[in-house]
This record gives sequence, structure tokens and C-alpha cells, in this order.
Amino acid sequence: MSGYENLLSEVQEGIAVVTINRPKALNALNAATVYELDRLFDELAQNDAVKVVIVTGSGEKSFVAGADITEMRNYSAVEGRNWGKLAQAVFSKIENLSKPVIAAVNGFALGGGCELAMACDIRIASEKAKFGQPEVSLGIPPGFGGTQRLPRLVGKGRAKELLFTGDMIDAAEAYRIGLVNKVVAPAELLDTTKALAQKIMFRGQIAVQVCKAAVNEGLDVDLDSGIAYEAEVFGLCFATSDQKEGMAAFVEKRKANFTGK
Ligand code: CAA
Repeated sequence: MSGYENLLSEVQEGIAVVTINRPKALNALNAATVYELDRLFDELAQNDAVKVVIVTGSGEKSFVAGADITEMRNYSAVEGRNWGKLAQAVFSKIENLSKPVIAAVNGFALGGGCELAMACDIRIASEKAKFGQPEVSLGIPPGFGGTQRLPRLVGKGRAKELLFTGDMIDAAEAYRIGLVNKVVAPAELLDTTKALAQKIMFRGQIAVQVCKAAVNEGLDVDLDSGIAYEAEVFGLCFATSDQKEGMAAFVEKRKANFTGK
């Protein structure tokens, strides 16, 4: 995975770590970076060696400080819409990647940065992380999915307060309202996130992927449709070797050795 100017990526023992790397702009997302994310996530989807993806920001200060304000400040309405649609599509690609994606939020996750973290499946935050959707201070609403994913994560009232005020909240508050799963000391962020990735990796991968798809599909439809989807994928999993192995291991009182088949 090479040929990227604004992203670093490495794959080790099944875990891909993707680092947004524009430290001079606090890792703000310009169009070039969003195009690179699009390309990199296509590669990650195709790479069988990758089981879980971690997304983080370079340096200690920032995860992603939002969309690049200097780049978009003179956009026309049409350019603004196209910019939003581009990043929305890439974030949906991340959200719907068949493999689990965990955000390791190391610092500022503002605007598009908070939206990127929310497109990931799970968020682990450093104690130094700060979250917010400050767009209203710039005269715009969030445009990379924030008005939709934030209320789905923290509820309508809390989301509206964050969206209307543009206030920043610290990691403890983000944890309290359910925006992040866990808060850890800055020095432990990557190790804790990798340990979680590893734990997930050693479960039945097809089952994990099916859980992800069922949650994502189900939250956008009525309960009966979601339940019906679950019954189908539940049934299909009985056609996998992983199901046979998982249940044999239980009966034989040993650890399962899943193959993802
Ligand atoms: N776009 C472009 N450049 C940015 C940036 C952004 N979103 N955020 C920070 N930078 C740049 C700064 O301009 C500065 O560059 P220079 O050194 O060349 O001046 C550098 O990063 C360091 O930033 P600061 O000097 O401002 O650092 P600070 O510690 O004083 O403040 C901060 C940190 C509070 C995060 C502040 O930088 C800030 O408020 N940034 C903007 C946050 C924001 O509004 N994000 C939302 C963007 S809009 C959006 O994301 C729309 C959407 O829905 C997609």
C-alpha cells in the first residue's frame, strides 16, 4: 500500500493501521486526502491479509481537525455540494467495509474529523481527545454525515445541542453520552485499540462481518425488516466451516480455530 501523500498505512498480523498525515494542518481533510482514503479503503477491502482496520491521526494533537477550510472557503454552492457528496461516499465506504474499522482518536476530532470517527464501527479515545461539530461557527452545517450519524449515536437532543452550539466536548463527556466506547491514557491508545482489534480478529470473521452488516442494514429499516434480515444471515452462517468449527470447539471444550470460510 504505497503511493499515498497524506496517508500512512501499515499492515501487521492482520491489522491495518491507517494514519491521516497532514500534521501542519492538524490532519485536516483536503480533497486529495479524501481521494486517497477512497483508494486505500478499496485496497483494504481487497487485501485478504487485512482483518481489522484502525484509523488514527498523526502526531499527538489531532485526529482530524475537520475539512480543510482554506481549500473550501471560496467554493460555490455546486462545488460545496460535490465536496460533501464525495466525502459522504467515502465515509459510507468506510462504514460499510466488510471488515471492522476502529477509530483511535488521539486528539481533535472536529467537523469532518468527528464525522470520520463516527463512520468507523467503534471509537477508542485518548484522554486528550476533543470532539465537536463546529461548522455553524463557519456558517455551514456538517456535510460529511454529521447531522445523520451524530443523532443515531448520541440521540436527537444531545446531537442538536452539539450541532447548534458548535461546542467542543472532552473525551470523558464523549464517553458519557455514548460517542466513544472507551477512554484511555494517550500512551495506551494504540495498544488498547490493537488489543481490541486482535480480540475481534480471532472470532469467526464471517460472523463478525455478518454482525456488522446486520446492524448497519437494520438501523435504516423498520424492526421487522431488520429481524428478517438477521434470520437470513443467521441461517446462511450454518453453511460455513466457521460455524462447524465454533460449535465443535465448544462441545470438545477447546479453543476454536476459525478460518474465515
Ligand atoms: N482546515 C485547514 N487548516 C486547519 C484546520 C482546518 N480544519 N484546522 C487547523 N488548521 C491549521 C491552522 O490553520 C494552522 O495552520 P497555520 O499554522 O498555517 O496557521 C494549523 O492547522 C494549526 O492550527 P491552530 O494554530 O489553529 O492550532 P490551535 O491549537 O490554536 O487550535 C483548533 C486547534 C482548535 C483545532 C483550531 O485549529 C480549529 O478550530 N480548527 C478548525 C476546526 C474546525 O472548524 N473544523 C471544522 C471544519 S469544517 C468541516 O469539517 C465541514 C464538514 O462537515 C466536513
